[in-house]
Amino acid sequence: MSGSATFSFTAVETLYVDTCVEGPDRTTVRRLLASWNSKAFRPVVVPSRVVGVKITPVSVHVGAEVSDVDLRALTAEQAAELAAAWGEYGVLFFRDQELEPDDHIVFAEHFGSIDVNKFFQKVESHPQIAQVLKEPDQKRNIGSAWHTDHSYDAEPARGSILVAREVPPTGGDTLFLSVAAAYDALSDGLKTTLLSLRARHSNEHVFGKTSEHPKQLNGRFENPELTGGAEHPVVIKHPVSGRPCLYVNRGFTTNFVGWTEEESAPLLEYLYEHTAQPEFTYRFSWEEGSIAMWDNRSTWHFAENDYHGHRRLMHRITVAGEALASA
Ligand code: SIN
Repeated sequence: MSGSATFSFTAVETLYVDTCVEGPDRTTVRRLLASWNSKAFRPVVVPSRVVGVKITPVSVHVGAEVSDVDLRALTAEQAAELAAAWGEYGVLFFRDQELEPDDHIVFAEHFGSIDVNKFFQKVESHPQIAQVLKEPDQKRNIGSAWHTDHSYDAEPARGSILVAREVPPTGGDTLFLSVAAAYDALSDGLKTTLLSLRARHSNEHVFGKTSEHPKQLNGRFENPELTGGAEHPVVIKHPVSGRPCLYVNRGFTTNFVGWTEEESAPLLEYLYEHTAQPEFTYRFSWEEGSIAMWDNRSTWHFAENDYHGHRRLMHRITVAGEALASA
């Protein structure tokens, strides 16, 4: 290539820099492009931050906070970056977003179709959105045990996107943990045993006709006749990251396939205690406008119930997933 060739950046590139790069970065990128105009060649390197999403891990094993993004105006590039980060960090947190229910649906559909939860009360105007509510005079909340959503389905939901609508003045945090890190920390001997097992998951004891939960939750659960269950490998290969993940949970796993519930209980209990160790967890404190989107295959979550006398209202959309393969 001739040393005298010149390049000028195009209107599209200028627009891209101006709309996708913020603050001092915008000046730097514009200056670099301008200086490259008079050079014989110009490297085609676009830093990932050019798409405007900043991703900051919040703990060693799980979660990242995402900033510099307006979820109401997500571009395809930003959605792809979020999808990759979701697979890598397990949970993404956002602050100060202004998502109306319609925006919540549009945002969720960037990541798959909506898998409407059969049992949670719906937001009346938007039946795709489940309501996670505790009123000031109620004592029980939803989700105050470590679990992952929809593991009782043959194709469990990929993830859940929770938007904070009303939060108590203190408390009401949600804890998350990484079941990939918990699996990695097991001995090779136990890993080998678990790799050969499948487990049964059911929602009958939670949402069914004989369960005490719907009564204690004063009508916040519905459709007790729609309960069911499914079997999955105990160690799954994560569909995005490929990492092995421990796929049993206290909320919905009933037994190992071919084992009775009584025989299964001691080993399941060991796995629950091991996995819930603080080193694998992260605690998220909500503000109105906060959002958490978690991957149901690589994480568990736990909603604290420490805000009696106050209202907490969250909107949850569950994104459809796929059948899970063994690791
Ligand atoms: C849930 O378990 O989906 C609810 C989590 C929360 O309310 O923090």
